[in-house]
Amino acid sequence: MIIYQNLSTFLFSFMFNLTLCFTDEGRSAVDQAGGAQIVIDHLRSLCSITDPANEKLLTVFCGMLMNYSNENDSLQAQLINMGVIPTLVKLLGIHCQNAALTEMCLVAFGNLAELESSKEQFASTNIAEETFISSQVLVILLTYPLDAIKLQLVEAGLVECLLEIVQQKVDSDKEDDIAELKTASDLMVLLLLGDESMQKLFEGGKGNVFQRVLSWIPSNNHQLQLAGALAIANFARNDGNCIHMVDNGIVEKLMDLLDRHVEDGNVTVQHAALSALRNLAIPVVNKAKMLSAGVTEAVLKFLKSEMPPVQFKLLGTLRMLIDAQAEAAEQLGKNVKLVERLVEWCEAKDHAGVMGESNRLLSALIRHSKSKDVIKTIVQSGGIKHLVTMATSEHVIMQNEALVALALIAALELGTAEKDLESAKLVQILHRLLADERSAPEIKYNSMVLICALMGSESLHKEVQDLAFLDVVSKLRSHENKSVAQQASLTEQRLTVDS
Ligand SMILES: *[C@@H]1O[C@H](CO)[C@@H](O)[C@H](O)[C@H]1NC(C)=O
Ligand SMILES: *[C@@H]1O[C@H](CO)[C@@H](O)[C@H](O)[C@H]1NC(C)=O
Ligand SMILES: *[C@@H]1O[C@H](CO)[C@@H](O)[C@H](O)[C@H]1NC(C)=O
Ligand SMILES: *[C@@H]1O[C@H](CO)[C@@H](O)[C@H](O)[C@H]1NC(C)=O
Repeated sequence: MIIYQNLSTFLFSFMFNLTLCFTDEGRSAVDQAGGAQIVIDHLRSLCSITDPANEKLLTVFCGMLMNYSNENDSLQAQLINMGVIPTLVKLLGIHCQNAALTEMCLVAFGNLAELESSKEQFASTNIAEETFISSQVLVILLTYPLDAIKLQLVEAGLVECLLEIVQQKVDSDKEDDIAELKTASDLMVLLLLGDESMQKLFEGGKGNVFQRVLSWIPSNNHQLQLAGALAIANFARNDGNCIHMVDNGIVEKLMDLLDRHVEDGNVTVQHAALSALRNLAIPVVNKAKMLSAGVTEAVLKFLKSEMPPVQFKLLGTLRMLIDAQAEAAEQLGKNVKLVERLVEWCEAKDHAGVMGESNRLLSALIRHSKSKDVIKTIVQSGGIKHLVTMATSEHVIMQNEALVALALIAALELGTAEKDLESAKLVQILHRLLADERSAPEIKYNSMVLICALMGSESLHKEVQDLAFLDVVSKLRSHENKSVAQQASLTEQRLTVDS
């Protein structure tokens, strides 16, 4: 064994020097010499020896494999094909006391887990057989996109064990118990990230596990409230589950929870409960039910929140709720406090997510209500310039939402909005969108529809005439997309008649 180990050390220094260079030449030299196979063979034959010198060597071997395959899919696939995953799982189980080795294995897992071809190997390696894997390691493993591991752990009875821990620790105020409660409930939430494990635990909404998690929401323990809300957000990943949960009173539970966290509430809990409501509001049949349960009022209580993650989820929830719900969109769109806050958030340059969601909600209020009053409220609050800017977004979907909202404004309240449209330079922007070859067909189409609608305003009409629109529009008559070409003809006629 000693000789063997010396030989390994020798090999190790040879390859270490090559991989340390981290160059492609270094890698391909190791590759051509069959280095990866040698290292994996050593890992395999040494993996159950727990003396410190050996563990050190194993750590270095794992590190080498990682450096070797770092950011290189084909080399990662090579390692997977050589069967490295079961060996890594074994290492995790056997050397759970060794922090450095465990960490190296986890990094290795993280790299390999991204690869589609690793899924099969993970599926056929039963991680649950490694009884010594610590909860800290599990927390990290479960964040990887590996459904197979989650399902294995569920099937091995991890959930029952976690629920038992929660039950035992929930009333304790000892520090260790609080930490264990947190780990156990966090693990529960992580297990639900896998589609299969989630659906298995949901069991049509009648599952014991689902019911237990549900009972965490009205509890007095913030950690359990948080885990409960996050678990619901995870269960709410398909329409069937969402519809079942809403029919069985989940909305009232979440609204009660939010209510308990309005004044000086816990931001993490607010965020989790709003995430759950947002997901539940996705199926069409749930929207009306949630609206009549008063979800908008409950959510609007957080309008004064200064926390961007809460603002972000609040906006997302409202946007889901008003989708194709004209009445709700009109009601919200006439709410001056809301619209003013949206306009403020449209300027939140430090929080791109909040800014984007805020723009989208502004446009959605107009698109779904088609209401003159909503448009007037948005004009008065200074929202028009943001919709115009949104038309230049890098995301086609947002550009489109902006153009459709602007076309409604032009059709319904052009007089009220014309000054703002002018100072936001809408006509120049439309000219740019039409001239730019990279604009998507629907952007070109909607820009032309909007140009025609703007002709009803004298000042905007003049701006259109001053720019060479006819040139760009007539070029689009031969556009490969028929709708675009057709709209170009119509627009050209309109421009010619009116000039
Ligand atoms: C990955 O490594 C192989 C072998 O060294 C090399 O041929 C290939 O170009 C690398 N691929 C990338 C994307 O770096
Ligand atoms: C892996 O590469 C890093 C540099 O990125 C180096 O510090 C480390 O020593 C290398 N590990 C092995 C085992 O080659
Ligand atoms: C909110 O509650 C969670 C769970 O108990 C806790 O980890 C977090 O620190 C709390 N946050 C604040 C701001 O109190
Ligand atoms: C053509 O444009 C129309 C209108 O914008 C759009 O709905 C459609 O998807 C486009 N078709 C293709 C093939 O891009």
